[in-house]
Amino acid sequence: MSVGASHNRLHIKGGRVVNADCSVDADVYIENGLIVKVGKNLDVPGGTRVVDASGKLVMPGGIDTHTHMQLPFMGTFAVDDFYVGTKAAIAGGTTMIIDFVLDQKGVSLIEAYDKWRGWADPKVCCDYSFHIAVTWWSPQVKSEMAELAKNRGINSFKMFMAYKDVFMLDDSELYEVYKNCRELGALAMMHAENGHVIQHEQERMLNLGITGPEGHALCRPEDVEAEATGRAIMIANRLNCPMYIVHVMSKSSADVIVQARKQGNVVFGEPIAASLGTDGTNYWHKCWRHAAGHVMGPPLRPDPTTPGYLMDLLANGDLECTGTDNCTFNASQKALGKDNFAKIPNGVNGVEDRMSVIWEKGVASGKMDENRFVAVTSTNAAKVFNIYPQKGVIAPGSDADIIIWDAEATRTISAKTHHQAVDFNIFEGLVCHGVNSCTISRGKVVYEAEDNKFTVSGGDGKFVPRKPFCKYVYNRINKRKENYDPSKVEREPFQGPVHQINKAT
Ligand code: URP
Ligand code: ZN
Ligand code: ZN
Ligand code: ZN
Repeated sequence: MSVGASHNRLHIKGGRVVNADCSVDADVYIENGLIVKVGKNLDVPGGTRVVDASGKLVMPGGIDTHTHMQLPFMGTFAVDDFYVGTKAAIAGGTTMIIDFVLDQKGVSLIEAYDKWRGWADPKVCCDYSFHIAVTWWSPQVKSEMAELAKNRGINSFKMFMAYKDVFMLDDSELYEVYKNCRELGALAMMHAENGHVIQHEQERMLNLGITGPEGHALCRPEDVEAEATGRAIMIANRLNCPMYIVHVMSKSSADVIVQARKQGNVVFGEPIAASLGTDGTNYWHKCWRHAAGHVMGPPLRPDPTTPGYLMDLLANGDLECTGTDNCTFNASQKALGKDNFAKIPNGVNGVEDRMSVIWEKGVASGKMDENRFVAVTSTNAAKVFNIYPQKGVIAPGSDADIIIWDAEATRTISAKTHHQAVDFNIFEGLVCHGVNSCTISRGKVVYEAEDNKFTVSGGDGKFVPRKPFCKYVYNRINKRKENYDPSKVEREPFQGPVHQINKAT
């Protein structure tokens, strides 16, 4: 066997393989980036590199459903770019991100897609994919959505009900976009906040002399999110279009999703590391930088019981996937809004810490078990976004995106030690049980925590195309179309006289 060949083979030994359905003591044999065998006493070619996983959990790498690397936003660029951001992801145990192509109104969706691919392809250290934001509506946008869905590997589109005059669509435009998503077999994703109310409330707070970060929370209370969540789902339901609510931040918005699911809607909710791991009391912190560091939309909620509530819903199956909305800005960038909270660039960190935060607040707290952890950090995302079983499971034939998780170890989160570019961490000081000790991406060891060693280069990650008409989402939608599409009542025409409208009166 040549030395070169052995580089393409890996034998993970002695660990406990944890999938979303069950856990088994088993070894994993990997060849050329794919999982070949899972089991005991595997027959493995000589010269294969061995990774010792004794006493540890061997899990599918995390899939972060929501990031914004190097996003141009509110006059500046997010500081975690596709290189640093994906490296930090790898350190934390995430092996795939789904980022957003998000450009201004009037910009061609295809040109935006090409631009974002140009940014990401040479830099990514782990696999990635894109959702496309639809920030305006026209016949051109309609046909470009079709091109993206049919030929460019895109099956999810995000719309905004907030950021008036920037990204926001009105209800009638949303109706058109949903209709198109439905025809293309795509998933409609929504940033649910009432942008009209926010704009008026921002003015009201500023007129009251409230210019600090607390104003951000005060002008976007929970019902601003809950109302939009309900409206987004209602419109989607009219069109039998599946709906995914991104960054679920409040109890009331989560309740709307739960209720809609109970009523039979095909709707998914995505809490993020921030909404599961911290709260909006931080907006009242005396240190301006600290308070501004938490500014994101929708805001974190001042009710400190919110994270636990969202975690319960995630644990019990009411919420589906977890992202981070990682969109980071340094102190000097946040300071663009030092005299006006409405100008503070919106966004927080999470891509590195999501897995640990969910383990700590979800598994270590006893709210969910290790299998549900895998479901909500990886498998469900793979299913909803149509990359299962390529991703999200440790099984023969799947991509070898694997983490070796030390459930006994602890680490303290800090901006001083994290791998992200940003100078602040919203989870600063949080002690997390559950630490990623080794990350394997496409069958290659890319990170070892023991000596903080990365063996990965920008561009090693690959774009993962995603097909439309995902069965996990569209099986129910298609059946409903057969069964419930409106139909007319056959009846005899009315034969009596018809009142004449006198145009003169
Ligand atoms: O504050 C946020 N969420 N920033 C990123 C853009 C978005 O709305 O997802
Ligand atoms: Zn958003
Ligand atoms: Zn401070
Ligand atoms: Zn976002």
